[in-house]
Amino acid sequence: MKKLLSIAVIGVFALTGCSSTTPSSSAGNGAAGKGGLIGIAMPTKSSARWVSDGDNLVKQLTALGYTTDLEFAEDKIPTQVSQIENMITKGAKVLIIAAIDGTTLTDTLQKAADAKIKVLAYDRLINKSPNVDYYTTFDNNKVGVLQAGTIVDCLGLKTNKGPFNIELFAGSPDDNNSHFFFNGAMSVLQPYIDSKTLVIQSGQTKFPDEVGTLRWDGAVAQARMDNILSSKYTDKRVDAVLAPYDGISRGIIASLKAVGYYSTAKPAPCVSGQDAELPSVKSILAGEQTSTIFKDTRKLATQAAKMTDEMLKGTTVDTNDTKTYDNGIKVVPSFLLDMVAVTKANVQSALIDTGYYTAADIK
Ligand code: GAL
Repeated sequence: MKKLLSIAVIGVFALTGCSSTTPSSSAGNGAAGKGGLIGIAMPTKSSARWVSDGDNLVKQLTALGYTTDLEFAEDKIPTQVSQIENMITKGAKVLIIAAIDGTTLTDTLQKAADAKIKVLAYDRLINKSPNVDYYTTFDNNKVGVLQAGTIVDCLGLKTNKGPFNIELFAGSPDDNNSHFFFNGAMSVLQPYIDSKTLVIQSGQTKFPDEVGTLRWDGAVAQARMDNILSSKYTDKRVDAVLAPYDGISRGIIASLKAVGYYSTAKPAPCVSGQDAELPSVKSILAGEQTSTIFKDTRKLATQAAKMTDEMLKGTTVDTNDTKTYDNGIKVVPSFLLDMVAVTKANVQSALIDTGYYTAADIK
Protein backbone atom coordinates (compact mmCIF):
# COMPACT_ATOMS: atom_id res chain seq x y z
CA MET A 1 0.00 0.00 0.00
CA LYS A 2 2.82 2.35 1.04
CA LYS A 3 4.62 1.59 -2.20
CA LEU A 4 1.47 2.27 -4.23
CA LEU A 5 0.96 5.53 -2.45
CA SER A 6 4.48 6.73 -3.14
CA ILE A 7 4.16 5.77 -6.79
CA ALA A 8 0.93 7.79 -6.93
CA VAL A 9 2.68 10.78 -5.33
CA ILE A 10 5.58 10.59 -7.79
CA GLY A 11 3.01 10.36 -10.58
CA VAL A 12 1.32 13.55 -9.45
CA PHE A 13 4.63 15.43 -9.35
CA ALA A 14 5.57 14.10 -12.76
CA LEU A 15 2.25 15.25 -14.18
CA THR A 16 2.41 18.73 -12.75
CA GLY A 17 6.13 19.05 -13.44
CA CYS A 18 6.34 20.61 -10.02
CA SER A 19 8.38 19.62 -7.05
CA SER A 20 7.26 22.28 -4.68
CA THR A 21 3.57 23.12 -4.81
CA THR A 22 2.49 23.92 -1.29
CA PRO A 23 -0.75 22.24 -0.26
CA SER A 24 -2.34 25.54 0.82
CA SER A 25 -1.73 27.02 -2.58
CA SER A 26 -2.78 24.23 -4.86
CA ALA A 27 -6.42 24.79 -3.98
CA GLY A 28 -6.96 25.92 -7.55
CA ASN A 29 -6.10 22.74 -9.40
CA GLY A 30 -8.49 23.63 -12.16
CA ALA A 31 -11.54 24.04 -9.93
CA ALA A 32 -11.75 27.82 -10.02
CA GLY A 33 -13.70 29.49 -7.20
CA LYS A 34 -15.94 32.53 -7.25
CA GLY A 35 -13.37 34.91 -8.67
CA GLY A 36 -11.59 32.29 -10.78
CA LEU A 37 -8.12 30.78 -10.80
CA ILE A 38 -4.96 32.87 -10.65
CA GLY A 39 -1.65 31.24 -11.62
CA ILE A 40 1.38 32.35 -9.63
CA ALA A 41 4.80 31.38 -11.06
CA MET A 42 7.71 32.09 -8.71
CA PRO A 43 11.34 31.44 -9.66
CA THR A 44 12.74 29.47 -6.73
CA LYS A 45 12.32 28.52 -3.12
CA SER A 46 16.05 28.85 -2.49
CA SER A 47 15.61 32.50 -1.55
CA ALA A 48 13.25 33.16 1.35
CA ARG A 49 11.74 36.22 -0.24
CA TRP A 50 10.05 34.30 -3.08
CA VAL A 51 8.48 31.95 -0.57
CA SER A 52 7.03 34.95 1.30
CA ASP A 53 5.99 36.56 -1.99
CA GLY A 54 4.13 33.37 -2.94
CA ASP A 55 2.48 32.98 0.47
CA ASN A 56 1.44 36.62 0.58
CA LEU A 57 0.00 36.48 -2.93
CA VAL A 58 -2.07 33.42 -2.04
CA LYS A 59 -3.31 35.16 1.11
CA GLN A 60 -4.26 38.38 -0.64
CA LEU A 61 -5.90 36.72 -3.64
CA THR A 62 -7.82 34.29 -1.47
CA ALA A 63 -9.16 37.23 0.54
CA LEU A 64 -10.40 38.74 -2.72
CA GLY A 65 -12.27 35.52 -3.58
CA TYR A 66 -9.84 33.90 -6.02
CA THR A 67 -8.31 30.44 -6.00
CA THR A 68 -4.62 30.12 -6.68
CA ASP A 69 -2.07 27.78 -8.18
CA LEU A 70 1.36 28.65 -6.78
CA GLU A 71 4.41 27.05 -8.36
CA PHE A 72 8.15 27.37 -7.78
CA ALA A 73 10.55 26.34 -10.56
CA GLU A 74 13.83 25.99 -8.68
CA ASP A 75 15.48 28.34 -11.17
CA LYS A 76 14.93 25.95 -14.09
CA ILE A 77 13.58 27.70 -17.17
CA PRO A 78 11.87 24.65 -18.78
CA THR A 79 10.17 23.89 -15.46
CA GLN A 80 8.81 27.42 -15.24
CA VAL A 81 7.60 27.26 -18.86
CA SER A 82 5.75 24.00 -18.27
CA GLN A 83 4.26 25.27 -15.01
CA ILE A 84 2.87 28.33 -16.78
CA GLU A 85 1.55 26.20 -19.64
CA ASN A 86 -0.23 24.00 -17.08
CA MET A 87 -1.82 27.10 -15.58
CA ILE A 88 -3.05 28.10 -19.05
CA THR A 89 -4.52 24.62 -19.54
CA LYS A 90 -6.22 24.78 -16.14
CA GLY A 91 -8.01 27.95 -17.22
CA ALA A 92 -6.23 30.57 -15.14
CA LYS A 93 -7.69 34.05 -15.60
CA VAL A 94 -4.48 35.92 -14.78
CA LEU A 95 -0.86 34.79 -14.63
CA ILE A 96 1.36 36.48 -12.06
CA ILE A 97 4.92 35.72 -13.08
CA ALA A 98 8.32 36.39 -11.52
CA ALA A 99 10.40 35.14 -14.45
CA ILE A 100 13.67 33.23 -14.10
CA ASP A 101 14.89 34.50 -17.45
CA GLY A 102 12.91 37.49 -18.64
CA THR A 103 13.42 36.66 -22.32
CA THR A 104 12.27 33.05 -22.51
CA LEU A 105 8.51 33.32 -22.14
CA THR A 106 7.53 34.84 -25.50
CA ASP A 107 5.89 31.69 -26.94
CA THR A 108 4.24 30.76 -23.66
CA LEU A 109 2.74 34.22 -23.24
CA GLN A 110 1.43 34.07 -26.81
CA LYS A 111 -0.52 30.96 -25.76
CA ALA A 112 -1.83 32.88 -22.76
CA ALA A 113 -2.92 35.78 -24.97
CA ASP A 114 -4.63 33.39 -27.39
CA ALA A 115 -6.61 32.06 -24.41
CA LYS A 116 -7.40 35.67 -23.32
CA ILE A 117 -5.41 35.31 -20.11
CA LYS A 118 -3.93 38.49 -18.65
CA VAL A 119 -0.32 38.67 -17.51
CA LEU A 120 1.16 40.61 -14.62
CA ALA A 121 4.95 40.65 -14.42
CA TYR A 122 5.86 40.38 -10.75
CA ASP A 123 9.01 42.10 -9.50
CA ARG A 124 10.98 41.14 -12.65
CA LEU A 125 9.99 42.48 -16.07
CA ILE A 126 9.27 39.95 -18.82
CA ASN A 127 11.06 41.09 -21.97
CA LYS A 128 10.45 40.60 -25.69
CA SER A 129 6.73 39.91 -25.45
CA PRO A 130 3.77 42.12 -26.37
CA ASN A 131 1.64 40.02 -24.02
CA VAL A 132 2.64 41.53 -20.70
CA ASP A 133 -0.28 43.62 -19.51
CA TYR A 134 1.12 45.19 -16.35
CA TYR A 135 4.16 45.12 -14.10
CA THR A 136 4.59 45.73 -10.41
CA THR A 137 7.97 46.03 -8.74
CA PHE A 138 10.07 48.33 -6.62
CA ASP A 139 11.96 51.36 -7.91
CA ASN A 140 14.89 49.20 -9.00
CA ASN A 141 17.19 52.06 -9.96
CA LYS A 142 16.74 53.47 -6.47
CA VAL A 143 17.65 50.08 -4.96
CA GLY A 144 21.08 50.39 -6.60
CA VAL A 145 21.44 54.02 -5.53
CA LEU A 146 20.70 53.06 -1.92
CA GLN A 147 23.06 50.05 -2.01
CA ALA A 148 25.93 52.24 -3.17
CA GLY A 149 24.90 54.92 -0.68
CA THR A 150 25.47 52.51 2.22
CA ILE A 151 28.99 51.86 0.90
CA VAL A 152 29.66 55.60 0.59
CA ASP A 153 28.53 56.04 4.22
CA CYS A 154 30.40 52.99 5.49
CA LEU A 155 33.68 54.16 3.95
CA GLY A 156 32.98 57.78 4.94
CA LEU A 157 33.63 58.94 1.38
CA LYS A 158 32.07 62.35 1.92
CA THR A 159 35.13 63.32 4.01
CA ASN A 160 37.68 60.53 3.54
CA LYS A 161 39.35 60.51 0.13
CA GLY A 162 40.95 57.10 0.58
CA PRO A 163 41.96 55.62 -1.77
CA PHE A 164 39.88 52.55 -1.00
CA ASN A 165 39.76 49.24 -2.85
CA ILE A 166 36.32 48.10 -3.99
CA GLU A 167 35.10 45.12 -6.01
CA LEU A 168 31.84 45.06 -7.95
CA PHE A 169 29.23 42.29 -8.15
CA ALA A 170 25.96 42.41 -10.09
CA GLY A 171 22.93 40.13 -10.35
CA SER A 172 21.91 37.55 -12.92
CA PRO A 173 22.41 38.79 -16.49
CA ASP A 174 19.03 37.34 -17.54
CA ASP A 175 17.11 39.26 -14.86
CA ASN A 176 16.09 42.70 -16.09
CA ASN A 177 16.38 44.06 -12.54
CA SER A 178 20.13 43.41 -12.48
CA HIS A 179 20.74 46.20 -15.00
CA PHE A 180 18.73 48.67 -12.95
CA PHE A 181 20.44 47.76 -9.67
CA PHE A 182 23.91 47.96 -11.21
CA ASN A 183 23.27 51.18 -13.13
CA GLY A 184 21.73 52.80 -10.05
CA ALA A 185 24.73 51.81 -7.93
CA MET A 186 27.24 52.95 -10.52
CA SER A 187 25.54 56.35 -10.81
CA VAL A 188 26.72 56.86 -7.22
CA LEU A 189 30.09 55.06 -7.36
CA GLN A 190 31.40 56.17 -10.77
CA PRO A 191 32.42 59.71 -9.70
CA TYR A 192 34.51 58.20 -6.86
CA ILE A 193 36.06 55.72 -9.31
CA ASP A 194 36.81 58.56 -11.75
CA SER A 195 38.50 60.58 -9.00
CA LYS A 196 40.46 57.45 -7.90
CA THR A 197 38.99 57.58 -4.41
CA LEU A 198 37.71 54.09 -5.24
CA VAL A 199 40.04 51.66 -7.00
CA ILE A 200 38.97 48.33 -8.53
CA GLN A 201 42.10 46.19 -8.29
CA SER A 202 40.59 43.38 -10.38
CA GLY A 203 39.76 45.80 -13.19
CA GLN A 204 36.44 43.95 -13.54
CA THR A 205 33.70 46.48 -14.18
CA LYS A 206 31.73 45.33 -17.22
CA PHE A 207 28.14 44.29 -16.80
CA PRO A 208 27.15 41.56 -17.33
CA ASP A 209 30.24 39.76 -18.65
CA GLU A 210 32.65 40.59 -15.83
CA VAL A 211 30.48 41.35 -12.84
CA GLY A 212 27.22 39.41 -13.43
CA THR A 213 26.31 36.46 -11.18
CA LEU A 214 24.26 33.84 -13.02
CA ARG A 215 20.99 32.99 -11.19
CA TRP A 216 22.05 35.19 -8.28
CA ASP A 217 24.00 32.20 -7.00
CA GLY A 218 26.01 32.89 -3.83
CA ALA A 219 28.40 30.04 -4.62
CA VAL A 220 29.20 31.58 -8.01
CA ALA A 221 29.94 34.91 -6.32
CA GLN A 222 32.04 33.20 -3.66
CA ALA A 223 34.18 31.48 -6.31
CA ARG A 224 34.70 34.76 -8.17
CA MET A 225 35.64 36.55 -4.94
CA ASP A 226 38.08 33.71 -4.09
CA ASN A 227 39.79 34.27 -7.45
CA ILE A 228 39.95 38.02 -7.04
CA LEU A 229 41.36 37.78 -3.52
CA SER A 230 44.04 35.27 -4.42
CA SER A 231 45.10 37.05 -7.59
CA LYS A 232 44.85 40.74 -6.62
CA TYR A 233 44.83 41.09 -2.86
CA THR A 234 47.72 39.04 -1.48
CA ASP A 235 49.43 42.28 -0.41
CA LYS A 236 46.40 44.60 -0.39
CA ARG A 237 43.18 44.98 1.52
CA VAL A 238 39.72 45.03 -0.02
CA ASP A 239 37.74 47.79 1.69
CA ALA A 240 34.32 47.38 0.10
CA VAL A 241 32.27 45.08 -2.10
CA LEU A 242 29.16 46.15 -3.98
CA ALA A 243 26.85 43.12 -3.68
CA PRO A 244 23.35 43.25 -5.20
CA TYR A 245 21.57 40.59 -3.13
CA ASP A 246 21.96 39.02 0.32
CA GLY A 247 22.69 35.50 -0.98
CA ILE A 248 25.58 36.95 -3.00
CA SER A 249 26.73 39.06 -0.02
CA ARG A 250 26.95 35.96 2.16
CA GLY A 251 29.01 34.14 -0.49
CA ILE A 252 31.39 37.10 -0.64
CA ILE A 253 31.64 37.28 3.16
CA ALA A 254 32.44 33.54 3.31
CA SER A 255 35.23 34.11 0.81
CA LEU A 256 36.59 37.05 2.83
CA LYS A 257 36.45 35.02 6.06
CA ALA A 258 38.42 32.20 4.45
CA VAL A 259 41.40 34.54 4.01
CA GLY A 260 41.26 36.07 7.47
CA TYR A 261 38.95 39.08 7.22
CA TYR A 262 36.63 39.83 10.15
CA SER A 263 39.55 39.85 12.57
CA THR A 264 41.56 42.57 14.32
CA ALA A 265 44.25 42.35 11.66
CA LYS A 266 41.73 42.47 8.81
CA PRO A 267 38.52 44.21 9.92
CA ALA A 268 35.19 43.87 8.12
CA PRO A 269 35.03 45.42 4.64
CA CYS A 270 31.81 47.27 3.68
CA VAL A 271 29.44 44.83 1.92
CA SER A 272 25.98 45.78 0.64
CA GLY A 273 23.00 43.47 0.01
CA GLN A 274 19.29 43.28 -0.76
CA ASP A 275 16.12 41.52 0.43
CA ALA A 276 16.58 41.63 4.21
CA GLU A 277 16.99 37.85 4.34
CA LEU A 278 17.16 36.59 7.91
CA PRO A 279 20.74 35.22 7.78
CA SER A 280 21.88 38.58 6.40
CA VAL A 281 20.00 40.56 9.02
CA LYS A 282 21.80 38.45 11.63
CA SER A 283 25.08 39.06 9.82
CA ILE A 284 24.42 42.82 9.91
CA LEU A 285 23.74 42.66 13.64
CA ALA A 286 26.96 40.66 14.07
CA GLY A 287 28.93 43.43 12.33
CA GLU A 288 29.69 41.42 9.18
CA GLN A 289 27.40 42.47 6.32
CA THR A 290 27.05 46.27 6.25
CA SER A 291 23.60 46.74 4.79
CA THR A 292 20.63 45.25 3.01
CA ILE A 293 17.69 46.75 1.18
CA PHE A 294 14.31 46.04 2.69
CA LYS A 295 11.65 45.67 0.02
CA ASP A 296 8.39 44.90 1.77
CA THR A 297 7.14 41.92 -0.21
CA ARG A 298 3.86 42.06 1.70
CA LYS A 299 3.14 45.38 -0.02
CA LEU A 300 4.21 44.03 -3.41
CA ALA A 301 1.83 41.08 -3.06
CA THR A 302 -1.01 43.34 -1.97
CA GLN A 303 -0.42 45.60 -4.97
CA ALA A 304 -0.25 42.63 -7.36
CA ALA A 305 -3.49 41.20 -5.99
CA LYS A 306 -5.15 44.62 -6.34
CA MET A 307 -4.00 44.98 -9.97
CA THR A 308 -5.15 41.44 -10.74
CA ASP A 309 -8.59 42.18 -9.32
CA GLU A 310 -8.79 45.45 -11.26
CA MET A 311 -7.82 43.71 -14.52
CA LEU A 312 -10.53 41.12 -14.04
CA LYS A 313 -13.18 43.62 -12.99
CA GLY A 314 -12.30 45.86 -15.92
CA THR A 315 -11.75 48.90 -13.71
CA THR A 316 -8.74 51.24 -14.02
CA VAL A 317 -5.59 49.39 -13.10
CA ASP A 318 -3.49 51.25 -10.53
CA THR A 319 -0.14 52.28 -12.09
CA ASN A 320 2.30 55.06 -11.22
CA ASP A 321 4.93 54.71 -13.95
CA THR A 322 4.31 54.51 -17.68
CA LYS A 323 7.80 55.40 -18.92
CA THR A 324 10.56 53.36 -17.31
CA TYR A 325 9.97 49.72 -18.14
CA ASP A 326 10.36 49.10 -21.86
CA ASN A 327 10.48 45.36 -22.48
CA GLY A 328 11.89 45.69 -25.99
CA ILE A 329 8.43 45.55 -27.58
CA LYS A 330 6.45 48.03 -25.50
CA VAL A 331 6.56 50.11 -22.36
CA VAL A 332 4.74 48.08 -19.74
CA PRO A 333 2.55 50.18 -17.41
CA SER A 334 3.92 49.69 -13.93
CA PHE A 335 3.38 50.30 -10.27
CA LEU A 336 6.65 50.93 -8.40
CA LEU A 337 7.00 50.65 -4.64
CA ASP A 338 9.55 52.26 -2.38
CA MET A 339 12.15 50.58 -0.17
CA VAL A 340 14.50 51.30 2.74
CA ALA A 341 18.22 50.77 3.21
CA VAL A 342 18.86 48.87 6.44
CA THR A 343 22.03 48.94 8.53
CA LYS A 344 22.62 47.92 12.13
CA ALA A 345 21.21 51.31 13.15
CA ASN A 346 17.68 50.74 11.86
CA VAL A 347 17.05 46.99 11.95
CA GLN A 348 14.59 47.61 14.78
CA SER A 349 12.57 50.36 13.14
CA ALA A 350 12.63 48.95 9.60
CA LEU A 351 12.20 45.24 10.21
CA ILE A 352 10.87 44.62 13.71
CA ASP A 353 8.59 47.58 14.33
CA THR A 354 6.97 46.95 10.92
CA GLY A 355 6.26 43.33 11.88
CA TYR A 356 8.34 41.90 9.03
CA TYR A 357 10.33 39.93 11.61
CA THR A 358 9.85 39.36 15.31
CA ALA A 359 12.54 40.13 17.87
CA ALA A 360 12.89 36.37 18.35
CA ASP A 361 13.53 35.81 14.61
CA ILE A 362 16.70 37.89 14.66
CA LYS A 363 18.16 36.45 17.88
C1 GAL B 1 15.67 40.07 -8.16
C2 GAL B 1 14.91 40.74 -7.05
C3 GAL B 1 15.79 40.88 -5.84
C4 GAL B 1 16.38 39.53 -5.46
C5 GAL B 1 16.98 38.82 -6.65
C6 GAL B 1 17.41 37.42 -6.32
O1 GAL B 1 14.90 39.98 -9.28
O2 GAL B 1 14.41 41.99 -7.44
O3 GAL B 1 15.02 41.40 -4.77
O4 GAL B 1 15.39 38.75 -4.86
O5 GAL B 1 16.07 38.79 -7.72
O6 GAL B 1 16.34 36.62 -5.93
